[in-house]
Amino acid sequence: MKRTVKDLANLKGKVVLLRVDFNVPIDENGKILDATRIVQTLPTIKYLIEKQAKIVLISHLGRPNGYEIRKSLWPIALVLMRLLPTRVYFANKAVGKEVEDQINNMKNGDVLLLENIRFYEGETNCDLNFAKEIAKLGDVFVNDAFGVAHREHATTYAIARIMPNAIGLLMEKEIEGLSGAIKEPKHPFVVIIGGAKVKSKIKFMMKLLEVADTIIIAGAMAYTFMVASGFSVGQSVVYDDSVEYARDILNIAYSQGKKILLPTDHICLRENAKKKKPIVTKDLVDDMVAYDIGPKTIKMFKEEIKNAKQILWNGPLGKYEDARFCEGTKEIAKAIANSKAYTIVGGGDSVSAVKKVGCEDKIDLVSTGGGATLKFIEDETLPCISVIQEKIKL
Ligand code: 3PG
Repeated sequence: MKRTVKDLANLKGKVVLLRVDFNVPIDENGKILDATRIVQTLPTIKYLIEKQAKIVLISHLGRPNGYEIRKSLWPIALVLMRLLPTRVYFANKAVGKEVEDQINNMKNGDVLLLENIRFYEGETNCDLNFAKEIAKLGDVFVNDAFGVAHREHATTYAIARIMPNAIGLLMEKEIEGLSGAIKEPKHPFVVIIGGAKVKSKIKFMMKLLEVADTIIIAGAMAYTFMVASGFSVGQSVVYDDSVEYARDILNIAYSQGKKILLPTDHICLRENAKKKKPIVTKDLVDDMVAYDIGPKTIKMFKEEIKNAKQILWNGPLGKYEDARFCEGTKEIAKAIANSKAYTIVGGGDSVSAVKKVGCEDKIDLVSTGGGATLKFIEDETLPCISVIQEKIKL
């Protein structure tokens, strides 16, 4: 068990360097399109405010190449000012004399958000000297950035090696929820995997084959699996370099008596048709391109969901950003939210689908990780978690 922020004694007046993942979608006017990651970090920030610490928030946003005004964290500071019951300041740098002065002027319970840490190349290079410069700013390091805990960067990894440390409450919730689901799954355990990136999910699927009873494969990756099973998919997207992997996964599943479900009907367009009108089909032939699961498939998937005791969902089940093809994802999101099973939803698109249908509160764990969630399930830990000190057993 890792040491958590609650194990840290005497926080009053201490400068806590709190690494968070505020890598949120922001439009060109600085409007935050989804604040889930910010909101999910509030319990740790509020706990530290209550303990009268001085809280210095460190985050990245995007993958900037040096300073880019569009990647500034300033819009996030404005959101924090609204959400927190305390003074929130913004530092337009992340290191140096100005930042040190701002920290020296903080009162207990104040919050200071540093500028995007990826404006400094030392961050992604995991530069120890850069980590030391940041460490100099505070007394203790708390990592609550689950979403980036698979990246060994200066303020996610190196810094934990050189200063007292702990995990935050969001990190603790993610670890407990995901570990429990993998180590002590409730059966039947149904996994629903969608999205496009077959290759990046192979190891994740292999791991889930060990613990799940049913794996539902839909979304853009389904057609690669359908080709691997010998079905025709018309002109639907197929990742040729992943067909063999898909075949391996199917073979392992069948040999272990696991159920793999693929879509049996589809909403598609005819590429060559003048009028691009979606049609429902069981057989994808000729110029048909599938973009969503059909009504029979929705019914079949819902039946599995109804009987499940644990559900993990990652990735959209169709091209859900297009209103013509969002039905499958929406219906399945609702079914998951209304099921009695222990439910986990991870990955930006699935989380936003659950929000779109207004069911977020009914999900037991809305994981803030994209790649981090997949990697955690594969390895049962992440480098930036492993580096944190263990809880002292009394
Ligand atoms: C994410 O959005 O998955 C995390 O913030 C990590 O971002 P990265 O993939 O740019 O490292």
